[in-house]
Amino acid sequence: MPAADRPIAPDLPPPPAASFASDNAAGVAPEVMDALVAANAGPALAYGEDRWTAAAVADLREAFGAPVEVVPCWGGTGANVVGLASVLQPWEAVICTDSAHIVTDEAGAPARFTGATLVPVPHDDGKLRPAAVAPYMHWRGEVHHPQPRVLSISQVTELGTVYTDDEVAELADLAHAHDMVLHLDGARIANALAASGSDLRRSIRDVGVDLMTFGLTKDGAMYGDAVVYVQPALAAHAHLVRKQAGQLPSKARFVAAQISALLAEDRWLVHARHANAMAARLATAVSAIEGVTVRRPPEANAVFARIPAAAVTPLQEWSFFWPWDPATSLVRWMTGFATTEADVDRFAAGVAAVIAAVRA
Ligand SMILES: Cc1ncc(COP(=O)(O)O)c(C=O)c1O
Repeated sequence: MPAADRPIAPDLPPPPAASFASDNAAGVAPEVMDALVAANAGPALAYGEDRWTAAAVADLREAFGAPVEVVPCWGGTGANVVGLASVLQPWEAVICTDSAHIVTDEAGAPARFTGATLVPVPHDDGKLRPAAVAPYMHWRGEVHHPQPRVLSISQVTELGTVYTDDEVAELADLAHAHDMVLHLDGARIANALAASGSDLRRSIRDVGVDLMTFGLTKDGAMYGDAVVYVQPALAAHAHLVRKQAGQLPSKARFVAAQISALLAEDRWLVHARHANAMAARLATAVSAIEGVTVRRPPEANAVFARIPAAAVTPLQEWSFFWPWDPATSLVRWMTGFATTEADVDRFAAGVAAVIAAVRA
């Protein structure tokens, strides 16, 4: 049989219906689709002057238990850009980990739109630590250095870890002691809160986060993330920044309707709890496979695992996922609100079959 026609592995099942490549590979949660259809009833004033936007702002204020300023944007990169550009001058700096999405995955947009310097620092587990930030604090007040103004963290981190409230509070205290602000990229904030069993009041407002990207796209929304300014004074120019950055949707009601649909009855947390549970199930299943080493027990909805190098490409051909570190054949498998137990079990069976074949 020619190589191309040979099965990847004799026991390989059909691929799962879900993709483990990313948590935004899934479609849209049904209640979001219903909300989009409902919001399509008749005309509404554009640019956020509509009742859906007013309702989403009220829903978020209720969830935060505070008069937060809410600035909906088209997506996560856009919300990060708008949030950061609202609080930064071109001579200032953002300190974040060297794996932060704002550094590695936004094509330099935050640096371009703010003019500020991004200072990526090393880390072990995706978390920014005060010790990594400390060497840059003496830059403040020194004319030759970019002026540290923002500490930026991702919750969940890009390595799938979840900051504790104490860890976030420590960074907030450090920032505030130096007249800086704490920015949180919450593309996966639902997964973080689902993991800790906490809420926005306790784990964002009370620990001292100043502004955040509030993301729902990975949790069932179609598109649209919001900047939430827990310190409303920071939003003084945010609406102009958003317009300049091309992040003001004219039909803003469709972003807002999604936010309200997911916040209602805590559906966003139900989805995230499910996604996290699927990651835990996957980690348990693949840990039992010889040749797989799960890097650490998943804290949210990502599983990082080392697999035999020869298994990576055949597995990707069967059910695509992204490599995380090709040099060490570390791969990342993501679960989402639509991942089923059957998807997880099928995926784990495929991993077992391919690894058995490449080791034979
Ligand atoms: C941590 C983090 N921040 C921000 C984003 C940006 O999202 P978008 O693709 O909507 O720009 C992502 C998306 O993968 C992300 O993982």
